[in-house]
Order: sequence, then structure tokens, then C-alpha cells
Amino acid sequence: MTALSWLSQFFLNTLFLLILYLCQRLWFQQSRAWWRKRRWPLAPHLILFIGLMAGVAWVFHFHYAYLPPGLWWLYGLLAVYFIGSIPAAAVWGLWLGLRRILLRRPPATAADMGRRRFLNSAAGACALAPLACAGYGFLIERTDVRITHVSIPLERRFAHLRGLTMAIIADIHLSPYFDARDLARVVARINRLRPDLITILGDFISFRTTIPVVMQTLAPLRARYGKFGCLGNHEQIKQVQNRVTRACAGVGIEILRFSGRELAIPGGKLNLMGVDFFANNRCQDVRSIAGCVRPRDYNVLLSHNPNVFSHLGAMPIELTLAGHTHGGQIRLHEGPLDITPVELVTPYIAGLYRNQGRYLYVNRGLGTVMVPIRFGARPEITHLQLG
Ligand SMILES: [Fe+2]
Repeated sequence: MTALSWLSQFFLNTLFLLILYLCQRLWFQQSRAWWRKRRWPLAPHLILFIGLMAGVAWVFHFHYAYLPPGLWWLYGLLAVYFIGSIPAAAVWGLWLGLRRILLRRPPATAADMGRRRFLNSAAGACALAPLACAGYGFLIERTDVRITHVSIPLERRFAHLRGLTMAIIADIHLSPYFDARDLARVVARINRLRPDLITILGDFISFRTTIPVVMQTLAPLRARYGKFGCLGNHEQIKQVQNRVTRACAGVGIEILRFSGRELAIPGGKLNLMGVDFFANNRCQDVRSIAGCVRPRDYNVLLSHNPNVFSHLGAMPIELTLAGHTHGGQIRLHEGPLDITPVELVTPYIAGLYRNQGRYLYVNRGLGTVMVPIRFGARPEITHLQLG
């Protein structure tokens, strides 16, 4: 990590902690005032709030690393509060400021009083909306896997590949929030699509202990030209690149690690290549794959990090497939409005991108990291067709 990226990371973390502190302070003051109005003893309020903050620290610091058995739902609810309470505090804080300016004078009439009560309730409902969205993202959208159908145009010289289909998945991150049963359903849906080729774009795991169950569940996948994959940052973090590569080979999935595999398709060839995960400041190293590129074939690159797409240089790679972003995982995308934390690290969040006749497809992944919530970024199986 360079000094500059360390500094920017430090600045972002400090800013986030400051925002988190201000939001929680507001909720503490508001809930205390509400509690006091009811003349309830204040000690239980303090104990409850300290408990809630300990839960927030659990979510913020440990992620899924310490999930006591049977308590996955408690972690989920705390994550809903953690994510929802920040925008909720922004809305409620804004309303408190407005109220102080606009409603300075005491209400003159009963109608005035009624109007104020209505405005207060409306602001409360607006402040609750982010919590409701986070709850929806935890309970519904997290496992609502969708199949996306994509068609990639082909140059005439690759006409032999017209109609070839590929099923793509990424970021399995097996955990209590996307478990073996969820993955088995994905495997069954892929097999029903009868793809010619299957690619799995890294982050098979979040925890070492799940490698055997992930592989067992992926084993029934079937495709005419085979099953291929590349490794993600979580295989790197857990230092299980070799273990996952071997385990994949055991269930017929070939992991391409700075290597290529020429597939003989009737009428021509398709050259499939894969690279290990590159951190954002090392994406230019993708050019180390140059020796595997076959200029006369249709070249497809598997890379967990989509940012390599900006660094392909003159390499004739027609199609790059990536994951890593989880489609933003939490993304507010409506018309021109597009907000997701993932925007801080990549311009390639989800879907199809085109640059100088070359294509990149970014799959939204299946599992989650940090918080078991997906909003505006449903888990995805891509069904891609050439031609
Ligand atoms: Fe991931």
C-alpha cells in the first residue's frame, strides 16, 4: 500500500467513524428524550443503548468472523440497524434543523397544532424508510437470485461462436446468509439453462472451513465445454489459492491462474484465460497474460477485479468477465441518481461495459460481505450468449 493510498484510506475511515459517532449520538439523545417523556427509569435505556453500540461494533469490526451458532439473525438485525441508522439520522437531523427554523413560534391554533403533528409524523416515516429498506435487503433481496440474459455482439470472423452460451457466477462467499441450500438452488438453475460453458469468477469462500461444502455443492454443475474459474481476493486473504485450485480440480472446475485454455468449438476456437486477483494499484500487471492471448481466436479473460479492463492495452481480448463488486451490494440507482460505496473503488459496478469494440461484463455475485444486506443489487446468475 502506497503512503498516499494509506492516507486516503485513513481519512475515509476517520470520516466514516465521525459520521457514525454523530448519528449514534443523535439517536441516543432522541431515544433518551422519548424515554424520559414516559417517565421510565433511565438506567435500562443506558444499558440497552450500550448493548446496541456493542452490537454495532461487532458488525463494524468483526464482520462475519464471530457468528455464535444460531445467532445469525441477531447479527443480521444489528447490521440492519448499523446500515439503516446512518441515513435515518441524516433525514431526522435535517428535519430537526428545519423544525427549529420554520416552526420557531408556538402553534397559534388547533389546526396549526394538527399540521405540526402531521409534519412530524411524515418526517418520522421518512427517517424510518432507510431502516425499512435495510430490513428488506436483509430479509428478501439478499437471496433473491435473478438470471440476467446478456447478448455480446460478435465480429463476422467469429461467426462459428454464434449462439454459444455461458453461465457466469461469482462471489459465492458461503456463510449463513448465502448457504449451501441457496448455492444448490443456483446450481440446479444453471443446469436447467444447459449452458455450453460455465465460469466462476472468484471469491468462492469467506472462510477456509467452507471449502469442502462449496465444492460438494458445485460438483453437479454440467456444461458441454467445461467449467472454469479464477481466484478472488478472499482466496488471497485466507491464503487458500492452492487449496481452492486443487479442490476445484477435484470437482471438474479448472482454475486459470495466469494461464489459458483453448476450447475447440466446431468451426474454430475460443481462448479462455484467467488471472488471479490484482489489487487496484496492480491492475496494469494484467499484461502478464499477453503470452496466453491468441490473436486469431476469440479471447475471453476471467478476472475477479473488473478494473483490469482499463489496462488491457493493445491485447486483443474481446471479452472480459469479472465480479468482485457485488453490484455495489447496497446501491441506490434510480434514473440519474446512482449511489454506492463501490463507486469509490471502481467505475465498473455491474453489467455490460464497452470500450473500443471490447466488452466487459461485471456479474453482481451471489453472497455478501461485511453486512448480510443487498439493496439495489440482487444476486445474479448471468446467462451470456455470443452473437
Ligand atoms: Fe466478493
